[in-house]
Order: sequence, then C-alpha cells, then structure tokens
Amino acid sequence: MARKFFVGGNWKCNGTTEEVKKIVTTLNEAEVPSHDVVEVVVSPPFVFLTLVKSLLRSDFHIAAQNCWVRKGGAFTGEISAEMLVNLGIPWVIIGHSERRALLNESNEFVGDKVAYGLSQGLKVIACIGETLEQRESGSTMAVVAAQTKAIADKVTNWDNVVLAYEPVWAIGTGKVATPAQAQEVHCELRKWLNENVGADVAASTRIIYGGSVNGANCQELAGQADVDGFLVGGASLKPEFVDIIKSAT
Ligand code: G3H
Repeated sequence: MARKFFVGGNWKCNGTTEEVKKIVTTLNEAEVPSHDVVEVVVSPPFVFLTLVKSLLRSDFHIAAQNCWVRKGGAFTGEISAEMLVNLGIPWVIIGHSERRALLNESNEFVGDKVAYGLSQGLKVIACIGETLEQRESGSTMAVVAAQTKAIADKVTNWDNVVLAYEPVWAIGTGKVATPAQAQEVHCELRKWLNENVGADVAASTRIIYGGSVNGANCQELAGQADVDGFLVGGASLKPEFVDIIKSAT
C-alpha cells in the first residue's frame, strides 16, 4: 500500500504571537506539492493552537504536542484529548523523547496515551528513539522495539498512527542520523510491525524520521525506502521547512 509522505513541524516551546503569525504566513505563501503527495502537520504550543488553526491554509493540519492520558478532570495544567477534539485539532504528538526524559513518561504511560488519544478520535504521531548510550551499547533495536511494543499492546487499529523514529542523540544537536542509519532502523521497525502486529500494518504505517533534519539533508533521507517523512524541530520554525516539505517529491 502506498504511504503518503508526511512532514510534521514540532515547534516545541517556542514562539510569540508575532513569530507564530510570521511562520504561518511563510507556510501559507509556500508553493509545495499537493496534499495528494504530502501531508503537512504543524504543532504549535497549546496556547497558539486556535490562532494557528484560524490562520493556517486548509491543506495543512495541526497537532498538539501532548495530551492527558485519560479523560479530563482534576489534573491541573493538563490538556485532554477531548479538548483537542472539541477545538478541531486532529493530531497529537505523544511520547516525544523530551517528555520521556524530562517528565519521566514511561513506555507504558506513552502506550496508554496513544490508545486514549486514538479512542477519542485523534490521530497520533507516536515518538520512539534510543539515546546515544543505548546506541553505543548496541541496544538500539531492543529499545525502539520495547517502545513500539508498549504502544502495540494497547492499540488495535494503526490507521491513525504515524511512528516517528527520533534518535535522542540527533535531536537538536545538528548531528543527523546518516541516511543508512535511519533506513536501517526504519526497516527493522517495519519488520517488527510485520512480525508482531501484521503485514498490512507494516506495509501501511508511516515511519518518519526526526533529529536535526534540515533543508540540506532532507533529500537524501527522503530517498530511503522506509523513510516516509519527517518530524522536524528547529528547522520547522524557519523558511527552510518549505524545502523539507518539497523533499516529498
Ligand atoms: O520533534 C522533533 C524532534 O525533536 C527533532 O528536533 O529537528 O530540532 O532536531 P530537531
């Protein structure tokens, strides 16, 4: 089954109202391949979701950067999946390594969040990835397989899941994975899905790469057979994000 190229822009905890408007203007004026060819999803901080939704071109979509693990209630500071649905936000990023590391989100907690978000009708960009120490000790596949298993244990329908492989050592470091390194892990992940979830899910699930993707390195990464797109951090705040979208063709 053909997998549509996916480019996500994770703005993380950045931006003022004026900066956000500037980024959206750049995106709205960009000439990019059609929505049949590439799916573009940008992820502003929560406080700018409504503003971006009101201004952004209709062929680009929006993701929140997180949501609560269950139904909302007495959880100060949290944002529920139901609220995102109510606002008309179709996507959410779950399990980003910054949250896993800084907020101690475990594999199981991430799996629960993915399942709950899906159950409420959200589409999920589920993030996995190994640290430098884990890579150097040869445990990359064991780590990403365990992270994926914790999601697979809770999820029965993968139609609305995009898996983002983001090696922690490549995030925000300027040290991008080589195309061969990315392809190797993506290929292994697809095999893992094939063996543990099913052939259809393995064939149709998009596995995107994140970690120091920029306008200069995206083409070669995009050319890898099992790289179905990107989750971009720093470069998604800059005009070069448009070049990354164009790498879909
Ligand atoms: O979610 C995006 C990733 O953390 C990648 O961030 O492109 O700044 O390395 P980066």
